[in-house]
Amino acid sequence: MATVPWLIGVINAQRSRSRNTWADQLMSVLLKPYATVPNHRSTSRFYLADCVALLEQLPAESVDVVVTSPPYNLGVRYNTYEDALPQTEYLRWTDAWVTAAARVLRPDGSLFLNVGTRPSDPWTALDVAQAVRARLRLQNIIHWVKSIAIDRNSAGAASGLSRDLAVGHYKPINSDRFLNDCHEFVFHFTPGGDSRLDRLALGVPYQDESNVRRWAAAATGVRCRGNTWFIPYETIQRRDRDRPHPATFPSRLPEQCLKLHGVSRIQTALDPFTGLGATAVACARLGVNFIGSDIDEMYLQEAVERATAVAGRQALPGRGAARMAKVRTRRSARAATPPTAAAAASGRTRSSAT
Ligand SMILES: C[S@@+](CC[C@H](N)C(=O)[O-])C[C@H]1O[C@@H](n2cnc3c(N)ncnc32)[C@H](O)[C@@H]1O
Repeated sequence: MATVPWLIGVINAQRSRSRNTWADQLMSVLLKPYATVPNHRSTSRFYLADCVALLEQLPAESVDVVVTSPPYNLGVRYNTYEDALPQTEYLRWTDAWVTAAARVLRPDGSLFLNVGTRPSDPWTALDVAQAVRARLRLQNIIHWVKSIAIDRNSAGAASGLSRDLAVGHYKPINSDRFLNDCHEFVFHFTPGGDSRLDRLALGVPYQDESNVRRWAAAATGVRCRGNTWFIPYETIQRRDRDRPHPATFPSRLPEQCLKLHGVSRIQTALDPFTGLGATAVACARLGVNFIGSDIDEMYLQEAVERATAVAGRQALPGRGAARMAKVRTRRSARAATPPTAAAAASGRTRSSAT
């Protein structure tokens, strides 16, 4: 999609002054959704586009929440995107899309940025967070726990555990130096560092009910969940059919982010790196308008199907096999090349062990 920056600037200035003007009509010429999925309470718009091109065409301060996960630059084998830029180039690109996203974010908005690392290079996610630092304030760090082991004794008698517990999925690595990677970061960035949150929307019941009687603040019976979120991947039978993408997050992750920001305060949410549409699915469930882009048509098509299924209150489709047949052909050319060590160690390929 070609953009003309000066023209976009003029259009955005005009759009911020009034709605439904000539500028809106011109925008609809410049920017055509790949698909629009209406829900009874909201609408999802999907763009087959580079996210910076899309973001440059959206009005300033028009998005309440961004929930996203960019490519991590760890050599993951996407369909279209080459996930192995020189690090300086990758961080420059990170700055470009974050600058564009910060412009469209409302002053009391939230940008939830999911980034993982590879066990052999734990700085990678923190480097991305540092690249955002110049544009937005880091308000919270959430740890997305994909797998956890809890000893029966540590859990205490009240837990009722009859044995040690190990739950969730992770990619085991073979190493005498590095640990299996069982978590990823969700950096919560905001324009001013002071965006209000609906902490109790994710509340967990007090274990000790006497707290509820003792403290006025505990009258709701729930407390803030805190910044460790255990969200396992769903167990799937066949990767190519059930999750035809190498690096997704479960839709419960964006759902919790949206609830934490406060669903009643969200008109529009955005995922510039839509993938299979986990954020779109969460938005459709919660009745929030969604805007998303991806450069890969096969992923975007799957995202559209998933959002449509939620809108139609059907079960999520576990399909994609027909399209994967096509993709497999394209991939087979690359199959002769073994995965890079970076990809193998990234943990981002989401294979599982419990
Ligand atoms: C980590 S994945 C996102 C997965 C998504 N969160 C999900 O759960 O399915 C990153 C996605 O970004 C897309 N992508 C890469 N570069 C892009 C760009 N410049 N603009 C838009 N999408 C891009 C890739 O095709 C890939 O689907």
